[in-house]
Amino acid sequence: MTILVTGGAGYIGSHTVRMLRARGRDVVVLDTLELGHRDALLGAELVVGDIRDRALVTELCRSRSVTQVVHFAAYKNVGESMVLPDKYWLNNVAGTVDLVEAMLAAEVRSIVFSSSCSVNGTPPAVPVTEDAPIAPESVYAESKATVERILRWYGVTHGLTAVNLRYFNAAGASDDSAIGEDWTQSLNLIPLVMKAILGKRGSVRVFGDDYPTPDGTCVRDYVHVDDLADAHLRILALLQPGEALKFNLGSGQGASVLDIIHACRRITGHAVPVQIGPRRPGDPPILVADSHRARSVLGWQPVRSGVDAIVASAWRWHQGHPLGYADRTA
Ligand code: WQD
Repeated sequence: MTILVTGGAGYIGSHTVRMLRARGRDVVVLDTLELGHRDALLGAELVVGDIRDRALVTELCRSRSVTQVVHFAAYKNVGESMVLPDKYWLNNVAGTVDLVEAMLAAEVRSIVFSSSCSVNGTPPAVPVTEDAPIAPESVYAESKATVERILRWYGVTHGLTAVNLRYFNAAGASDDSAIGEDWTQSLNLIPLVMKAILGKRGSVRVFGDDYPTPDGTCVRDYVHVDDLADAHLRILALLQPGEALKFNLGSGQGASVLDIIHACRRITGHAVPVQIGPRRPGDPPILVADSHRARSVLGWQPVRSGVDAIVASAWRWHQGHPLGYADRTA
């Protein structure tokens, strides 16, 4: 009854692994450690290896009696995906095909996939439901949308049970600051603001202040990483053979770029050096999740996801780990 977690040494993966272990689940992590961190595992069992290594995955599934796979392993840099698309097709898409084939060879037929709200591109309406049109606007987003479709087809051809969890903007860190987001690899807004506050970079550039939003800056749905982890535990407990499900996971609350910057200023007590810059191509003005399905089917409540709670937890983590996981003195 072991759960195999690919990419379990990454940001959302490590929070999920920790929560699974805290609930007494038997977990084995598969991670190349190219972007993941051994220290993020807090002692969980790790096999250093690649999802593309079918022999390794099949052997791991057999030897550890794996019954379910949670699949986080992927590249996630949107900008990079437009420059190096083959990296995303080969690892995110072909890598998932390798993973699933290797699982099936070991008769493992259940997978929970880390998908993204970006599969909907700029949705026609907000809040965004699971039925919004699939319209990716980057290679990264297309890689996630393609994997969703591939998993559905494996359901048809091989009876694979698959769940797509579409995350909105994952943020924050564990309550006790033991694990968090390593900003040495993150280009996301909150880690960038923290970096600026701690003097590790110059000012934060706001990507456009002329959007049709209340303060002119983009609105996003920031959801606490431990709330996302909790959704994984719920779906793993409920998943029935043959199901093909998708869930949007967000707080349901929008926060603008300036809302986040103001919260960071208020909570840390530090000034945030800010410059207003041009819009970033491909940024939808407003993205907020409709997570009613997750609430009703999974009983999921994003209880840690207020902006202040997210920023406060991120601040505790970044203060204690100014060099991310490289900072072993923290
Ligand atoms: C947040 C807001 C920026 C940096 C990403 C992925 C997406 C999905 C969620 C998972 C935006 C603004 C940012 C900066 C800024 N995840 N910003 N200055 O792009 O909303 O979504 O996470 O797969 O696929 O792309 O996140 O943190 O980059 O940006 O003004 O220096 O902050 O324009 O409005 P994004 P982000």
